[in-house]
Amino acid sequence: MKHNKIVMTFFICISTSLNLKAQKPAVELSVETKIEALIKKMTLEEKVYMIHANSSFTSGGVKRLGIPELVTSDGPHGVRPEFGRDWNLDNNSLDSGTYLPTGICLAATWNSELGYAFGSVLGSEANYRGKDIILGPGINIIRSPLNGRNFEYQSEDPFLVSKMAVGYIKGVQSQGVSACVKHFIANNQETKRTSIDVQMSDRAMREIYLPGFKAAVQLGGVNTVMGSYNKFRGQWASENNFLLTQILKKEWGFKGMVMSDWDAVHSTVQALWSGLDLEMGTDLHMLPNPDYSKFFMADSVLKLVKAGKIPEYIIDEKIRRKLYIMFKTNMIDGKRIKGQYNTPAHQKTALQVASEGIVLLKNRDKILPINKTETRKIAVIGYNADRKQSMGGGSSQVRAFYEITALQGIRNIAGKTEIVYAPGYEIKRDAKANPELIKNAVSIAAAADMVIYVGGSTHGYDYSVWSDNAYDAEDTDKPDMNLPFGQDELIMALVKANPKLVVVLMGGGALDMNKWLDETPAVIQSWYPGMEGGNALAKILFGELNPSGKLPVTFPNKLADHPSQQMGEYPGNLDKLTVHYYDDIYVGYRYYDTYNVQPQFAFGHGLSYTTFEYGNLKLIPTTDKVIVSFTIKNTGDKAGAEVAQLYIKPGTSLLPRPEKELKEFTKIFLQPGESKTVSFTLNKDAFMYYNDVLHAWVMDKINYDILVGSTSRDIRISGKIKM
Ligand code: BGC
Repeated sequence: MKHNKIVMTFFICISTSLNLKAQKPAVELSVETKIEALIKKMTLEEKVYMIHANSSFTSGGVKRLGIPELVTSDGPHGVRPEFGRDWNLDNNSLDSGTYLPTGICLAATWNSELGYAFGSVLGSEANYRGKDIILGPGINIIRSPLNGRNFEYQSEDPFLVSKMAVGYIKGVQSQGVSACVKHFIANNQETKRTSIDVQMSDRAMREIYLPGFKAAVQLGGVNTVMGSYNKFRGQWASENNFLLTQILKKEWGFKGMVMSDWDAVHSTVQALWSGLDLEMGTDLHMLPNPDYSKFFMADSVLKLVKAGKIPEYIIDEKIRRKLYIMFKTNMIDGKRIKGQYNTPAHQKTALQVASEGIVLLKNRDKILPINKTETRKIAVIGYNADRKQSMGGGSSQVRAFYEITALQGIRNIAGKTEIVYAPGYEIKRDAKANPELIKNAVSIAAAADMVIYVGGSTHGYDYSVWSDNAYDAEDTDKPDMNLPFGQDELIMALVKANPKLVVVLMGGGALDMNKWLDETPAVIQSWYPGMEGGNALAKILFGELNPSGKLPVTFPNKLADHPSQQMGEYPGNLDKLTVHYYDDIYVGYRYYDTYNVQPQFAFGHGLSYTTFEYGNLKLIPTTDKVIVSFTIKNTGDKAGAEVAQLYIKPGTSLLPRPEKELKEFTKIFLQPGESKTVSFTLNKDAFMYYNDVLHAWVMDKINYDILVGSTSRDIRISGKIKM
């Protein structure tokens, strides 16, 4: 990566001679030397001023030495609107931006090149708006369908998370600003997120919860990491020496800066020694005049250092890291490339991600794509069809430059087909099925040729009110997997009135569809698909685009089937404030496939309007790797893309292992009749697991099945090798 190594240099002319020919050669100072020189010039007060927030989103600089403030901004899928120092939205700024699809939709593309494109848009817009760090990607493992922030995250699978996160980070940082991978680690629920103590085995930590972060550091070269709110094994994650120093910095060699989540620090001494470099946050109790000198890493640090209780080199080390990322992103010298804002190219990326991320879950009798000429009238039903989502969800809110809703997108391309609309339900606290709204929706559905229902989850009752967030939002989890606001009753009434029904579900993940799925011919998962989401959805509905999204999480049949409910605890013991991950390494499909539990829709599932044939599997083992190749052919009559997934199934190992694990994937675009060869190289790492008795990654010398398929449960070709 371009910025992996600091390449910035500067030259000092040391000759005072007027004779240019006699000038001595310029001396090249390394960034490290410059950093040390700056640290030497700083007073203790100046240093301490740099290691805590000095407003909602900035931390201090040292003006006299040319060190600017460091400006951070959420978030994962767009640059957040501007805030004043008092944490109020500054509604006067020109702060609308490109609203990209949320993290889970990006992951559903299974296209790591799109991860890079997505990150580049974010980085470019952050740069344009004067931000130095974009607070994303959010990569916590999706452990439960109830987590309110799943929409911001990526997947239940660490390999998919890693691939998408690395692309995203490189994209952001290619624009000269830093990415911030968050939340390190185990922020897998919002219930009691600021007090829950997460307990998990070494194996779960190594195999499931750490790999995404490790890839972000070692493959993505991420500049900054955000610690999480929760405790990890009894110690706050944002001041956890084991996580921040032992693992992140020592084991993985992370050279960048660790910041806390907002107000996630609890003590001065522990934070200082833990490896935390920057305390961020705004003490809401102090509003409207927060006093940042009261932060844990502010005045109390001064006192401790002056009293000789904390050595100054501990502070210097934090400054060193902060300066390192500042040099790396040309904040101190050098020149940053210019960012861009709200460009058609950025909007095109938003459209592309939505187009490839929306998942066609079911399509009985090929009811989709809609034939415009044969469809006189379409009833669009559902509150979400006409609802803008960009400002909801909490810290990831974006003031979208524009947002095409599903209804608008459908109207944009429906041509002569008449579109009628009814909301059918209302989004209100505790809203139940509303007979009046249902009656109205049913009557227009019955009179139409077909019905497109757009419902599912939402970002809250009133998406513009932070404290009124519910369902897919920060600081709150979903109460259950049921469709809220009486939507089951509505959908059941609709399918009775008109069996040509397409149900489109928005939201951050699985919802219980049992009440109506059998009768409903088509279902689409559209997540929160960003500013161009309505256009992407409409193009898929009318066949202008062939869907190619695949589920990055398993959709269980019902909540009770989920491993976090069956084996683990969720949300844990709320009296003792602990949650035990007894589900261990059996997260998502690792559980369903090992314990033979039938999901509603499998991990990796997603239909297309064409069909693909897999063949010619070849396995070529060498001493330390296996080269796998196979062909995929588009056997239908439409161009389309398939995500080929490679899983490894180990024979009998020393320790229990999941039935299969994803080790490679690729997205292939094929014209009708076209065939391509795919080739993967599996290194030793792909066969290893973490032996928590030996505290080491090991590879058993056993047989392995190499499984290649279209979902974790639709394996098309397989072969055996012995390592
Ligand atoms: C969230 C972070 C976010 C930060 C700043 C916190 O509440 O957990 O993800 O980046 O606020 O808005």
